[in-house]
Amino acid sequence: MAHDTQTLNQSRNLFGDQQQIWLFGYGSLIYKVDFDYLERRPAHIENWTRRFWQGSHDHRGTPDAPGRVATLIEKPGAICKGMAYLNTPAVFDHLDHREKNGYLRFTTEMTFDNGDTAQGLVYIATEENAAFLGPASAYDIARHIKSSTGPSGPNDEYLLKLESALRDMQADDEHVFEIASHLREL
Ligand code: SIN
Repeated sequence: MAHDTQTLNQSRNLFGDQQQIWLFGYGSLIYKVDFDYLERRPAHIENWTRRFWQGSHDHRGTPDAPGRVATLIEKPGAICKGMAYLNTPAVFDHLDHREKNGYLRFTTEMTFDNGDTAQGLVYIATEENAAFLGPASAYDIARHIKSSTGPSGPNDEYLLKLESALRDMQADDEHVFEIASHLREL
């Protein structure tokens, strides 16, 4: 799959003519909210785990020197905590552009903190996309992130803002916290 998923996503109308759509954010969408929303609630999804396995050519790196950003990887039994936003369909033009570097629209069940559930749209960068980088040790990922920067700013800012937002939400994420801890020691 090509890097730019924008056109593909616009053809993936997963919610028909619904006028209010939940979005589940697990990476920068938790802490960088550059869109209007109707409601915002912490939530989690099951059987997916957050991993810094996606290359970033347009936000935290460049095509020649991609940064590393979060995607979701399937893992039975895993819980991924994030932030859910109730949106109007118009917001997704902006989000498709923001998430165009390999992320595809997907739907999943989300569970809110009070136990209620809803279907949500999530942007996932799978290993089929050309910007996918895949696994590396937490130390190597921290080194990679420390040396990367792109049009949206330094890659370590992405990691540290995500870490801080997850801690504020009392979300335990060993992968993110371990990389952040290595980064602070470098
Ligand atoms: C997300 O935050 O849900 C998608 C990945 C990202 O933009 O960091």
